[in-house]
Amino acid sequence: MIHEPRTTEAEVPLKAPMVKSHYILPSDDSEITRLNLQNQLLTREVCDGKLIFAPAEVEHGDQVLESGTGTGIWLLSLADTIPPTISFIGIDIHTRLFPQEFPSNVSFLQRSITNLPAEWTERFKIVNQRLLIGGLTRKEWKKAIQEIHRVLVPGGWFQCIEPNIPLKTNIGPHTERMFAAVRDLLAKNGLVHDIVEVLGRKLSKTGFTNVQTHTVSLSAHRHEEEFNHRTLMEWFFLALKPGMLAQKLLQSEEEFGELMQSMLKEWDESPQVAWSWSVVYAQKRENNVGMAKFCIYM
Ligand SMILES: C[S@@+](CC[C@H](N)C(=O)[O-])C[C@H]1O[C@@H](n2cnc3c(N)ncnc32)[C@H](O)[C@@H]1O
Repeated sequence: MIHEPRTTEAEVPLKAPMVKSHYILPSDDSEITRLNLQNQLLTREVCDGKLIFAPAEVEHGDQVLESGTGTGIWLLSLADTIPPTISFIGIDIHTRLFPQEFPSNVSFLQRSITNLPAEWTERFKIVNQRLLIGGLTRKEWKKAIQEIHRVLVPGGWFQCIEPNIPLKTNIGPHTERMFAAVRDLLAKNGLVHDIVEVLGRKLSKTGFTNVQTHTVSLSAHRHEEEFNHRTLMEWFFLALKPGMLAQKLLQSEEEFGELMQSMLKEWDESPQVAWSWSVVYAQKRENNVGMAKFCIYM
């Protein structure tokens, strides 16, 4: 059955109170294409073909939440493979990327991960979140992790995928300059370029257990496949171009275009061009008794 965007729960309005957004990527048609292709590549190359990489099992009646769902491609791909008795909620601060058609066990809500409904406490078996590096400030990451911990059932899993933004690349000056512009753009918007390095610690501090990081380095050389890691990286920089120009990190379209061409030439000439991605996953402790013991012996 196909539905228009709506919420299944009368008490949760479709448009919740808005928070200020720091998000720096676009929400247009080419972003929809980019995100959907990126989903295929990340699932295949980073997550060994699995939509759920954490050792979580979903059963009849379980609920799954996706934070920053975008086009909902992860939720919809997962909903396709498991029984309709499992329900899914995708939240996002913007509704522009939401799909128009989806099955009846899926809902999409406008909501920030930093402020979830009180009645969602201990509701979800899995919370998935990918690529919020362009949306959350350091303070918001802390709040988001607390909210995710609150809404997971005891024993439930959080999984998160983010890119590693290098501080030094050793590829060449143009590549250095492009990555410096990316880091500056994130910093100017209060965002965090090294979230993968600090996320595990933040999760443990919030009370998560079994914190794991799985990092995969993917080549960015030319490839016969039409959409590959090199294309993904090119599209990522292109999606950041309006922000870079607005912040005057690069002065013009021409300067951006020249930098991009020179950078890609460096990639062709360098034998080992690769960028890495990490899946960070962690489990909410099984019950409060265990948590109390943990606190006493710390
Ligand atoms: C790069 S997109 C990734 C979309 C999707 N997770 C995927 O992997 O295809 C990041 C999404 O996070 C959303 N976002 C940014 N800040 C958010 C927040 N505070 N709460 C919820 N969603 C947010 C953006 O609107 C955008 O749709």
